[in-house]
Amino acid sequence: MPGELPVGEPVPRDGSLPEGVSAGKMPFALYIHIPFCARRCGYCDFNTYTIAELGGDESIEKQYVDALVKEIALARSIVGDQQVKTIFFGGGTPTLLPSSEIARILDAVQLQFRLSDDVEITTEANPDSVSAGSLGELRAAGINRISFGVQSTTPHVLQTLDRTHNPAQVPIVVHAARDAGFTHISVDLIYGTPGETIVEWEESVRSLLSLPIDHISAYSLIVEEGTKLGAQVRRGVLAMPDEDLNADKYIVADDLFTAAGFAWYEVSNWAKPGGACKHNEMYWKNNDWWGLGAGAHSHIDGVRWWNKKLPAAYIKELQDGSSPALAREILTDEERSFEELMLGIRTREGLPLSVVAHGAAAAALADGNLDVDQYEMGRVVLTRSGRLIADALLRAFSDA
Ligand SMILES: C[S@@+](CC[C@H](N)C(=O)[O-])C[C@H]1O[C@@H](n2cnc3c(N)ncnc32)[C@H](O)[C@@H]1O
Ligand code: SF4
Repeated sequence: MPGELPVGEPVPRDGSLPEGVSAGKMPFALYIHIPFCARRCGYCDFNTYTIAELGGDESIEKQYVDALVKEIALARSIVGDQQVKTIFFGGGTPTLLPSSEIARILDAVQLQFRLSDDVEITTEANPDSVSAGSLGELRAAGINRISFGVQSTTPHVLQTLDRTHNPAQVPIVVHAARDAGFTHISVDLIYGTPGETIVEWEESVRSLLSLPIDHISAYSLIVEEGTKLGAQVRRGVLAMPDEDLNADKYIVADDLFTAAGFAWYEVSNWAKPGGACKHNEMYWKNNDWWGLGAGAHSHIDGVRWWNKKLPAAYIKELQDGSSPALAREILTDEERSFEELMLGIRTREGLPLSVVAHGAAAAALADGNLDVDQYEMGRVVLTRSGRLIADALLRAFSDA
């Protein structure tokens, strides 16, 4: 949930949905935001804080989990008896919480909702925020997928990114996760950090491919306004990531991932068979999800809302018996269609040709940016050259 929150209309104190809007028409997911980090990485503008930034009182973690438990009950009272398909603990660093607190949150979810038999429960984790012991506890609590923020295995790149972990910790924690019983293990990588050569990037990719993982996300570094990295780039202390070099890095990674048995299923995501993240797919299909926690966004039946951003404000609302929602918007049909286009175009499944203007699709096909076989079957699916310019193609498809 990076960046500024949009402006919307107020949400009633009891959090109720507008007339005629209800859950249950689409599959249902929960996102649980844990807004705590040991240190803020210089590039990150997610809604996260160090305990020192929150006043230095560690008891805020327990108060925060108490508030989450209250919001879970609030969600149940609003959406009713839903079956939960996926749960995703994101952050921040969810694994900074003691595993017993993660277990307390999952117990509260199970008290209020039914979990599907094949429920996927993921947590994000920083490599230095887990141990063999805590991984076993997380698995015992019901977490069945873990996503490690590795970013790079090159020390000077990790230093530029302000990461706290040492690359040598990565294989240790991935194997420990495997030993703890995790069969779904993902790693996040970032390419394009100032000073990173293509050889270093290739080494990062290769070293991860030797690990027992079934999913990889590789993101191009975004220089966010208002971050330490943003200021360093503005002052000229660090160079802006080079777009051509980034395209080469994407190609190198895509080739290596593919050769190792990972297939792309979204522009920035690759998985081995059975390893795709079901929770991501819930977002991309515009299904329903309730985002619990400070600054978390929710989407139910075309209504989107977002919670107060500061943990203390979030906790206070729930302590007072109110919804922590700050504002909401009701999507118009046009906005819903654009969202479907924006999300669908990036996926391997693609979109029906009928939702993309014919001229723009034909031009993209002629330029080699759309898969010919899929096009003939009436679908718009990007080729690799198309994936490299997905944002420009989206503009062309939606302008037309
Ligand atoms: C917000 S983090 C949360 C998980 C965990 N704290 C971590 O850092 O891995 C989720 C992912 O977003 C990525 N991310 C955050 N800011 C980014 C940026 N400016 N550009 C690219 N990726 C970013 C992180 O590197 C991480 O892999
Ligand atoms: S550890 Fe993750 S969430 Fe925390 S500041 Fe770094 S990238 Fe952001």
